[in-house]
Amino acid sequence: MADIILGIESSCDDTSAAVIRDGFLLSNVIASQDVHKAYGGVVPELASRAHEQNIVPVVSQALDRAEVKASDLTAIAFTRGPGLLGSLLVGTSFAKAMSVALNIPIVMVNHLQGHILADFIKQYGKENRHPAFPYLCLLVSGGNSQIVKVDSPLDYEILGQTIDDAVGEAFDKCSKMMGLGYPGGPVIDRLAKSGNPERFKFSKPHVPGLNYSFSGIKTSLLYFVRDEIAKDPDFMEKNKEDICAGFQKALIDILLDKLIIAAENTGIKEITIGGGVSANSGLRNRIEKEGSERGWNTYLPEFKFTTDNAAMIAVAGYYHYLNGERTPLDIAPVSRISDF
Ligand code: KG4
Repeated sequence: MADIILGIESSCDDTSAAVIRDGFLLSNVIASQDVHKAYGGVVPELASRAHEQNIVPVVSQALDRAEVKASDLTAIAFTRGPGLLGSLLVGTSFAKAMSVALNIPIVMVNHLQGHILADFIKQYGKENRHPAFPYLCLLVSGGNSQIVKVDSPLDYEILGQTIDDAVGEAFDKCSKMMGLGYPGGPVIDRLAKSGNPERFKFSKPHVPGLNYSFSGIKTSLLYFVRDEIAKDPDFMEKNKEDICAGFQKALIDILLDKLIIAAENTGIKEITIGGGVSANSGLRNRIEKEGSERGWNTYLPEFKFTTDNAAMIAVAGYYHYLNGERTPLDIAPVSRISDF
């Protein structure tokens, strides 16, 4: 009999449900929440309310598109954390309610593990290329910046991580500071494409080992923009493409410097990226360029699997399910998970 897993993701501001059959994706529905745009960032209480409104139609649509009945499901995989607690509670409670109604198990998933396994989302009619173990994943999102060594679908070692802000946070906060809107990553990415990355330079932090820091570059951009606007109020408008190109290049340099050391130290040449920032065109180009120069096998997730989605949760949950893991119904979501 086929294993049919429903995945539920509700860790931040996307309500998503996906169905996989024996590891192959049948549907992946995502309802994004536009309500936060007016506030320049995710408002946790609004996110929880929107999840509450979206969860029933999103799950129904995922089942319909997969042409699967609820009674056909084998198990439900859900994001336990990390994320916004109110948002996580909606997905977790919904998974539990369905599990009781259908008498099938739930399997909890670490959201970050979902991003790390995004290359393993198998699709009918596609090549389904994925890295061999062990591989290195540069995990870059709004909440995390990590280099993770992945030994198997369920074994991870964090080799380095940010000691302050995440790189996505740097994109978002600096975009807000420059008056460019939210979420900042896609806006800066678009503007950077027509800018000169060499015109404005931002210094890189000195952080020991494989750890990252992004708070210093954020502050240096703030002072730079403030001082230039004091001299010319139209400075931003006249130079935004070049500023974005220089800023994005600095962030990518910081990320790549440590990833290259990690690859050299471990001797691993299978390299992937994951998380929302892995949609960045500059980062994707740079990874491919470094990869061809250094003999890496690089893997870039499809754009639709870079940001939060339930397909990656269903796949990660499927591995846990095959490993015999079942989650008790008294489990509670957690906003932070220190390790995998
Ligand atoms: O993984 P994600 O959807 O949510 C979590 O943080 O878990 O990542 C969202 C982050 C935001 O910071 C957003 O600005 C960033 O991903 N992002 C990008 C791009 N698209 C989304 N950053 C840089 N370039 C992009 N094209």
